Amino acid sequence: LRVVVLISGGGSNLRALLEATRDAEYPAHVVAVGADREAEGLAHAEAFGIPAFTVPYSSFPSREAWGDELLATIAEWQPDLVVLSGLMRLLPPAVVEALAPRLINTHPAYLPEFPGAHGVRDALAAGVAQTGASVIVVDTGVDTGPILAQERVPVLPDDTEHSLHERIKPVERRLLIDVVRGIADGSIGLGAASTP
Ligand code: GRF
Repeated sequence: LRVVVLISGGGSNLRALLEATRDAEYPAHVVAVGADREAEGLAHAEAFGIPAFTVPYSSFPSREAWGDELLATIAEWQPDLVVLSGLMRLLPPAVVEALAPRLINTHPAYLPEFPGAHGVRDALAAGVAQTGASVIVVDTGVDTGPILAQERVPVLPDDTEHSLHERIKPVERRLLIDVVRGIADGSIGLGAASTP
């Protein structure tokens, strides 16, 4: 299964997926890594010898223009699946519609609880005893797509946003690796196939 991963930040989830693909038995491989800015996480692609590209959001006059360039760049790699793993940017509907349902996202909360860009902070502020991690199919909403996998993660009394996020990420990584494997081996169906 040909996978393109999109990031914005440190890419620790990307690194975990890249490490999983080192196993010859793992039925997916990352063909390229993209970012909407000069993301630190692109260094993981370089370390694994995987092509990386940036489509800098700030270089475009609109979200739609950025999205069109991003979609064209992604299409060059002919992916079977696009993974958003720490992409901190909403994709324009045209991009989602072109890629879905072969477009998934990891989110550091137990959706539909705490969607959006600050799921960890919001869970902490809400004072809940547990939050979670989720992997979903991206739709044109914000973290509203079909849930492919999710797992609860406890919130501890002295948690900070960072400590809670660091407890969530390992769960996210495991779910992501399992979901990508499931999509590759057919045990997870994504609904009607679409061609990017
Ligand atoms: C992950 O928790 C992801 O779900 C969220 O931002 C974090 C990115 O972490 N959107 P990293 O860049 O993979 O380290």
